[in-house]
Amino acid sequence: MKAIKRYQRYLSLWALGLAASMGAAASAHAQSGVGDVVYVPTPQVVVDEMLNMVKLNKSDFLIDLGSGDGRLVITAAKKHGARALGVDLDRYLLKVANEAAQKEGVTERVTFREQNLFQTDLSDATVISTYLLPSMNLKLRPSILALKPGTRVVAHDYAMGDWYPDEQKTLVVPEKKVGNPGISYIFSWVVPALAAGQWQSTINVSGKDVAYQFDLTQFFQNIDGNATAAGGAGGEVRGKMTGEQIRFSVSSRGAQKIERHEFQGVMKGDTITGTVRIGLDSTQRPWTAKLIKRGAMTRAQDEGGN
Ligand SMILES: C[S@@+](CC[C@H](N)C(=O)[O-])C[C@H]1O[C@@H](n2cnc3c(N)ncnc32)[C@H](O)[C@@H]1O
Repeated sequence: MKAIKRYQRYLSLWALGLAASMGAAASAHAQSGVGDVVYVPTPQVVVDEMLNMVKLNKSDFLIDLGSGDGRLVITAAKKHGARALGVDLDRYLLKVANEAAQKEGVTERVTFREQNLFQTDLSDATVISTYLLPSMNLKLRPSILALKPGTRVVAHDYAMGDWYPDEQKTLVVPEKKVGNPGISYIFSWVVPALAAGQWQSTINVSGKDVAYQFDLTQFFQNIDGNATAAGGAGGEVRGKMTGEQIRFSVSSRGAQKIERHEFQGVMKGDTITGTVRIGLDSTQRPWTAKLIKRGAMTRAQDEGGN
């Protein structure tokens, strides 16, 4: 009986619309959730910002890990036209989510599944969202990093250890009573392609082809290493992967004097194609690179979760 009353309260809250469901947060605490973390809903204003931050669109497939009352999944479908899946272990919340999807007219684009989030196949997702404990995010991190480069990830309040976010925001949310009351943190990442390794490259400089070798190391999305030109000149590499997009600069190291090079390109398998700008010259010169020895990502301090 108590459960039915709770259920009815949920439905009436959803009937007030998505914006009004921000106010549902406190009542929703009546439901504790099942699994590795209790149920706490993300305030709707934060849901909206999370989905905007990852530029969710109608070609996306979002998976919300631990979907609660389904608000991320339903908003993804209703406001952004995306397909979305929510997984949760709490049957009551799954029922609430399914009812809400029906009410909002998005059942064709959304699915809720009773499933452990750690056993969920993430391979089709283009966007993953979480509002989980830091230790759960860390446990998920290896599977997320193994996804297709370019997959976006967005998390409420808790980050991913020393995989620093590509973007983050702090929102003032007066109605939020848990975590850091009144404040929500949003973090987002793009799964980086693995560029670590040895690359052979040619750049056309003043009509002459100059051969370069890049020795890159990679820590999550950050790349650094050495660039060596034929003849020995070289420099220090610093840059970043955003999915398959690579961007780095090469600048002089120590006594060596080379002009600063700004590289950008797209990595597809073992090949990078892009352009380079040299010194103060704004000309974009074509640049390609071929992987000759694949490296591995530098191990994180916090690997394996905590
Ligand atoms: C903090 S709530 C977040 C709900 C929703 N994503 C949101 O942001 O409003 C976490 C949810 O994860 C679910 N959960 C906890 N452990 C889980 C597990 N191992 N597998 C699936 N769901 C889980 C809980 O039942 C709860 O609904």
